Amino acid sequence: PRCFALVPCAGVGERAGVGGPKQYHPVAGQAVVAHTLSSLQRVPELEATLVVLSPTDTQFEQHVPGFESERGWVARVGGATRAESVLNGLNELMERGVGAHDWVLVHDAARCLLQPAHVQALIAACEDDEVGGLLALPLADTLKDAVADDAGLRVRATVDRSGKWAAQTPQMFRLGLLRPALLQALSDPETAAQITDEASAIERIGHQPRLVPGAYENFKVTWPGDFSLAERLLHPR
Ligand code: CTP
Ligand code: MG
Repeated sequence: PRCFALVPCAGVGERAGVGGPKQYHPVAGQAVVAHTLSSLQRVPELEATLVVLSPTDTQFEQHVPGFESERGWVARVGGATRAESVLNGLNELMERGVGAHDWVLVHDAARCLLQPAHVQALIAACEDDEVGGLLALPLADTLKDAVADDAGLRVRATVDRSGKWAAQTPQMFRLGLLRPALLQALSDPETAAQITDEASAIERIGHQPRLVPGAYENFKVTWPGDFSLAERLLHPR
């Protein structure tokens, strides 16, 4: 089986608060997604990378000029949620001849500090697996369950963090397993809201994805302060 990357890049970046999609905000002289894609292009195990854009995207070509090539594919099929964007991207991969047994590595456009070694560690850990897996980190901080009161938030309880991991991407599954898993999860609006990564859809159909230790720097640019953190990691002083 071959390995392909699928990069959902159709979000609006509401939490980042930069007045536009965060994937096009500059970090160290380049758009966030330009860093992400150049990391993926340095992974020789990947046959090609498909980027899923919003149908109304006007910025990708300007920030990643000349991306479309033999190993760089673009599809304007982004949906209302990340899971829909990924499912639409999987359909596009099928149309381009990717088979049910081929691996698809889904990676957030907003994780721009990915290193080729992280991807290679995931591939090495999963390529002989039945199901696949994901990069993740064991939780470092103590976890609190919050409850609202008139003045703001209070701690209801401390959640036992032992055995708890924070999911990252890439998440690597066979196209023939991930597509029906997402289709099923998205068919019910109540469960659809809980599908915030690929692994959660795979778990819902009864499989146990492999957890592969990721790296702290492979964080997702999410909040306003994350751009300068990413910048310092890319250009240490
Ligand atoms: N994404 C997507 N399609 C959507 C929503 C998200 O392709 N409908 C992508 C984002 O572009 C991002 C990745 O999925 O690369 C992870 O999502 P997230 O960090 O939540 O990004 P946004 O949804 O853009 O940010 P926010 O939730 O703060 O609005
Ligand atoms: Mg989001």
